Amino acid sequence: MTTSPLEKIIIQKIKSQGPIPFDEFMHMALYYPELGYYMRKDIKIGREGDFFTASHLGKVFGIILTKALLKIWQKMGCPDNFSITEIGPGMGYLAQDILEEIEARDFFSDIKFKYILIEINPELRKIQKQRLNKYTDKIIWQDSINKINSLTGVVIVNEILDALPVRVFQIKNNKTFEVYVYVDEKENLTETLLPARDDTIAYLEEFAPQVFEFEGYRSEINLAIRDFIKQLASVLNRGYVIFFDYGYDREEYFSPQRTRGTLLCYYRHTINENPYVNIGQQDITSHVNFSAIEQWAKEVGFNVEKYTSQSKFLISICDENLLMRLDQEGLIDKFKRLVLPQGMGETHRVMILSKD
Ligand SMILES: C[S@@+](CC[C@H](N)C(=O)[O-])C[C@H]1O[C@@H](n2cnc3c(N)ncnc32)[C@H](O)[C@@H]1O
Repeated sequence: MTTSPLEKIIIQKIKSQGPIPFDEFMHMALYYPELGYYMRKDIKIGREGDFFTASHLGKVFGIILTKALLKIWQKMGCPDNFSITEIGPGMGYLAQDILEEIEARDFFSDIKFKYILIEINPELRKIQKQRLNKYTDKIIWQDSINKINSLTGVVIVNEILDALPVRVFQIKNNKTFEVYVYVDEKENLTETLLPARDDTIAYLEEFAPQVFEFEGYRSEINLAIRDFIKQLASVLNRGYVIFFDYGYDREEYFSPQRTRGTLLCYYRHTINENPYVNIGQQDITSHVNFSAIEQWAKEVGFNVEKYTSQSKFLISICDENLLMRLDQEGLIDKFKRLVLPQGMGETHRVMILSKD
């Protein structure tokens, strides 16, 4: 098998500095400039790519979400400087659906409304600019949330947290180890266990102390989410954050039955469990621990408004009129895929934070 340029870079790094922790490997595989999965020029999300998200199921997700956004704006007292920020907008479909709906219903037309897109991949920014060229006077693009000064409004985070680098831990002989990546004599990337770092142990003590008793247990922890929430807290002056992602609360996540964690890779609409193949060409994800998000969000001053399934959240927004409209516009099948348990309804969860 040929070694990709990114794999060569990772191998070189390990040879010169020794084994690297899994989260560092995952960060390189996904975010290495120009070669990491999310930084590639030829990245595609959707049918031509490796996976779908809710934004790819026609405009139904955007239509329902816009209704929720309007309600939030009203609940906030209809502020004049209201903005919607989308982190990681991918191909820009959700932004398009929301902006079309806002235009069609004449929402926010009397205020200084802005739609802010935070996208790290320059090529995706280009794709988004082409798709949204009708709305450029309303849109601001940035490559990092840190570049935003102060927001009043709603931040939408759809399937981003699952792609932040995780640490992988394993319990062995009553000790806690972390998976590190090193290079074997045949120049293949392989795993080794090294003693877990203090903050990994601290996370497990806080969110999953039971796992110390589970011999052989392996799973992931995501500390990058904590920094992400801190950044959100520092830029959001007043408003709401809506996270959509696949995940569990702490009991479900670290249940005794889930002995191999939740790490999965997506490559051309197939799933595998091997992050050491297709490096830079496949997505690597893991489920989100919503109990940790709740805890960290409270620590930085957010209120936790809601934690529920995507199904319950979307259905709660739909009144009879909206359902009739979805039916008339031929969107009911797509709606079902968003809300039914065999679609994304139960796997995907929603957590809403607020700050005032
Ligand atoms: C899994 S895709 C989700 C795309 C989109 N939200 C959707 O629902 O289709 C992840 C997106 O987030 C971007 N991304 C990943 N990490 C990011 C970060 N730290 N800041 C901004 N964008 C990020 C990727 O380039 C990509 O556009």
